[in-house]
Amino acid sequence: MGNSYVYRKVHSLLGVVPLGGFLMLHMVTNYAAFQGGADMFREKVQAIHELPLLLALEVLFIWLPLLYHGGYGLYVAMLSRAHVTRYTYGRNVMFALQRVTGVVAFVFLVWHVWTTRGQVGLGTVEVDGLGAHMHDIATNALYYWLYIIGIVASVFHFANGLWSFFVSWGITVGARAQRVSTVVTMVLFVVCSSMFILALNAFLDSSFAEASADVFR
Ligand code: HEM
Repeated sequence: MGNSYVYRKVHSLLGVVPLGGFLMLHMVTNYAAFQGGADMFREKVQAIHELPLLLALEVLFIWLPLLYHGGYGLYVAMLSRAHVTRYTYGRNVMFALQRVTGVVAFVFLVWHVWTTRGQVGLGTVEVDGLGAHMHDIATNALYYWLYIIGIVASVFHFANGLWSFFVSWGITVGARAQRVSTVVTMVLFVVCSSMFILALNAFLDSSFAEASADVFR
């Protein structure tokens, strides 16, 4: 109890607001590549980069929450043991998957943010060249599959984390509510990971290729 209760609640809340919210917004921005091709994707990215105080917003609503959620999450995962007797077999599997996908998502994110937003910050990739940059990444077979793994792990971690969030904030109390919540969050997982994967596949199109300023070549 005491402080660790508060640390856990903050950890749980940050996973949904703002990090889950960011993931949903990010999915919509990327989905523009599938929906409207290179032009629509460029417009969405430009709109984000025109936001006032963008760096401060990113630090406050993405990077600091990610550091806390990831850091504390790793710490908790190393300390606690699975509740083998308290929950059903299925829930224990989900509990184990939640930890594994958390670690995979964190490693993916460090690489992904460094090679996208990090390179824009360093000036090696232009904001208008992000579509071409994503084309170069998606057309590399190794990177393509690392993205598939990263997407599936991150979205599962978010959707299944939402299930735990509803329990720990007293929203799904009974067994029936928790069964319904399992179905809803797993549908969310399938829909959102499919949208991300459709976006990734859209970047394979050669219409994204022009104006490439690639850091991988
Ligand atoms: C199809 C899959 C994905 C694509 C094409 C993609 C693309 C991008 C691009 C282009 C940027 C740079 C944005 C900019 O500078 O304006 C970016 C940043 C970022 N992405 Fe992704 N992404 C994908 C999946 C994911 C997933 C699954 C996560 C998991 C949480 C994620 C988290 C982030 C984060 C945290 C940033 C940094 C945002 C910022 O600091 O503004 N991305 N991504």
